[in-house]
Amino acid sequence: METELPWNIILASTAVLAFIYWYFTSTFSYWEMRGVPFVKPLPAFGNIVDYILWWNTYQESCVKIYKKLEGHAFGGFYDAHKPVLLLRDPEIIKQVMVKDFANFRDRNQSIPEKLFPLGSHLFSLTGSRWRKLRVMLTPTFTSGKMKMMLPTIVECTRELISCLEKSADSNDFLEMRNVIANFTTDVIGSCAFGLQINSMKESDSEFRRMGNKIFKPNHRTSIVRSISLFFRPIFWILKPAAMSQEVNDFFIDLFKDSMSYREKNKVVRNDFLQLLIQLKNKGKVDEDRLSSKDDIHLTITEKVSAADAEKDEPLEMTDTLLAAQCFVFFLAGFETSSTTISCCLHELAVNPDIQERLRKEVDKVLIKHGGKITYEALQDLKYMDAVVDETLRKYPPVGNLNRVCTKAYKIPDTHVNIDKDTKLIIPVYAIHHDPKYYPDPEKFDPSRFTENNIKSRPHFSYLPFGEGPRVCIGLRFGRMQVKVGLAALLTKYKFSVCEKTSIPLGFDPMSSTITFWPNKIFLKISHRDN
Ligand code: HEM
Repeated sequence: METELPWNIILASTAVLAFIYWYFTSTFSYWEMRGVPFVKPLPAFGNIVDYILWWNTYQESCVKIYKKLEGHAFGGFYDAHKPVLLLRDPEIIKQVMVKDFANFRDRNQSIPEKLFPLGSHLFSLTGSRWRKLRVMLTPTFTSGKMKMMLPTIVECTRELISCLEKSADSNDFLEMRNVIANFTTDVIGSCAFGLQINSMKESDSEFRRMGNKIFKPNHRTSIVRSISLFFRPIFWILKPAAMSQEVNDFFIDLFKDSMSYREKNKVVRNDFLQLLIQLKNKGKVDEDRLSSKDDIHLTITEKVSAADAEKDEPLEMTDTLLAAQCFVFFLAGFETSSTTISCCLHELAVNPDIQERLRKEVDKVLIKHGGKITYEALQDLKYMDAVVDETLRKYPPVGNLNRVCTKAYKIPDTHVNIDKDTKLIIPVYAIHHDPKYYPDPEKFDPSRFTENNIKSRPHFSYLPFGEGPRVCIGLRFGRMQVKVGLAALLTKYKFSVCEKTSIPLGFDPMSSTITFWPNKIFLKISHRDN
């Protein structure tokens, strides 16, 4: 019997395949047409095949792209099929982040509030709502407010110290990422929500569980992220765990309960929550004068964003909006600081001479300040500053900064025009590992951060906290938390490598495109006098 060719099926399949091919490659002439140097993409995957298939982190993919664009100040690549502009040259980075900030005010991170009400936080907000909120929250982070919160952080080190006691008694090893994440959870829980969480004792606390749900790389979130690179609406349909109803309800209820407890019982504490209550009741936070040199990053923000002021949309201080700010302090503050402290301990264990020099400095400074970790004592820890700076260079917790072009822009001294809505990436991790700025970049060397060495590099070649008006608002708090944690640990314990320590320290390829997650950090703990 003669079989008929199913022409209709063949035609339909060809049309579907042609459409799919077109869908995944139609944008691939974008950079060529604009005369922008670019890295040749692969159909469908663009230039991030190794990230999509979980072979390496997004930051490591950006390093490869950065290297391929060697010799260019900027260049194009494709996030799957979406064109992205990667900035390489510190001068252009400065132009985008500071001088022409008005054209690049937003991150490519906005979250529809209807789908996730807690998304209305400072990190994701755009336009004049962001500007207004940033100006209102700035007085919450002055050095005066930091001084006020320091005792709460110091209090949290007690549990941290006692938690390591048992391991030190038996010269045993511990996984440090987890221990330090418990510490920073306690700090942010205490300062942002006014709670005593005690993650050290109760490591399965709800708060810790939420932290893991949001940050710990997992298959579901990574699959959603990879698929949504091909088809964005999938992201909002499947949503990563970090934006689940459970996370939303947990933080909003927590905020409301803590606030109403304080209001009913007339409890006043020195923390962010109290400042947010002030913001709600008085419409502003009592201002310190931004006079300290520590506050320069905040004043720059005020000046530049005020110059960019436009007709402000009203911003009502609802409970949800305030809860969202506590949420972002947790989101932005706990994981970044915990990664910094644990990566620093890893390097101190690998480099015992640096550890010893740092311990001597801590001893000397504490003696000068009556054995107490005070704000002034922290300012005197100059070598520790260099050690922390070098940690943030080698392991910047936020490995890529992103911006979106909000007003069409011509790159100065070129013929290149950037269209509105183009996504830009500043590849912090790649820049921090570029031997042109940091010779022998894998070497951990705090002397890169002496005053002279800092001056010898272009300013925008070091960006662990970002720059310009959208610079990290919690910079001072983050550094303070890291220094307090390290000082407390070094006065009591020594850290050394053990057979389970991975050298070099790798990263989980399922980490997010913004923050990355180092592999487990196993270290041997001993009492310092051993
Ligand atoms: C070592 C610790 C930290 C690091 C490395 C870090 C890094 C960063 C970076 C790179 C950005 C983006 C900046 C840009 O796009 O130019 C950022 C933004 C932000 N960070 Fe941090 N951060 C840290 C600690 C904290 C803490 C403790 C808080 C709050 C208590 C915080 C709150 C924020 C907020 C709210 C933003 C968004 C600011 C805005 O868009 O106006 N961060 N951080």
